[in-house]
Amino acid sequence: MNSPRSEIENPTAHPSKIDNNSVAGAAPQGAFDKESSARAIQEMFTSIAPRYDLLNHLLSFSVDRLWWWRAARQFAHILSRPEARILDLCCGTGDMAFALQRRAGKSGAKILGVDFSHAMLQRGTQKSAGTSLRWVEADALNLPFADGQFDLVTAAFGFRNLADYDAGLQEILRILPPDGECGILDFGEPRGMIGKLYRFYFKQVLPRVGTLISGVRGPYAYLPSSVERFPQPEEMLERMRRAGFKQASWTPYTFGIAGLYWGKK
Ligand SMILES: C[S@@+](CC[C@H](N)C(=O)[O-])C[C@H]1O[C@@H](n2cnc3c(N)ncnc32)[C@H](O)[C@@H]1O
Repeated sequence: MNSPRSEIENPTAHPSKIDNNSVAGAAPQGAFDKESSARAIQEMFTSIAPRYDLLNHLLSFSVDRLWWWRAARQFAHILSRPEARILDLCCGTGDMAFALQRRAGKSGAKILGVDFSHAMLQRGTQKSAGTSLRWVEADALNLPFADGQFDLVTAAFGFRNLADYDAGLQEILRILPPDGECGILDFGEPRGMIGKLYRFYFKQVLPRVGTLISGVRGPYAYLPSSVERFPQPEEMLERMRRAGFKQASWTPYTFGIAGLYWGKK
């Protein structure tokens, strides 16, 4: 299959931005190494799990639904295969997995969601009653699956939270067979006027509303800083290629507020 339409495909057009001291992964406030970072992230999502869906839709004006739908559409050719095995990493309460399942229809493709927050998975389990979706509590950096077990691995708004991005890519590659695909949907930083407006909303409005409704201080201030810290598309694509993806591309969604990284092993 051809790579999706992409603003950035040719690595040689973008000189390497990776230096050995550059960011390894998420660094929430108070974390001092990868273990404490992962622990802080896990606690953070567990603390906002009861209001996570409501806040997601509210703060994104429900555009998140469009982004999950677009990402799932990208993989229609895999989702339509009855024998396909799909893993949605960092699945949270399951909305990416639900979008994948809707796109798969009655194809028979098996979709599994993984997250390390029990509280987030509990909500996913409630929402998925009566469906064929299955959930597993596990760390995305240490998955309890054999090599090459999944035809497609997705991660929506979760990869950015991993304590080690390169280790995350390696783990995704490990569980994909040759020609297996991955889709990492995450926030970006739009440029120009839209970028200015968006930054104001993301840094000034969203943390306040998020804190007010969730009743928890911290997570919604962490969100903009984690996006700022996350590699820019050129760097992320280079990391994907270095990890071992033979093809990689990025497709901006909604002026680049979000975007889909696509990779083929
Ligand atoms: C922003 S939520 C995204 C949830 C869902 N994919 C969505 O699109 O709404 C990020 C999720 O990633 C999970 N997560 C972060 N790091 C993880 C890790 N190392 N292993 C498993 N799950 C992780 C968190 O627990 C949280 O549920």
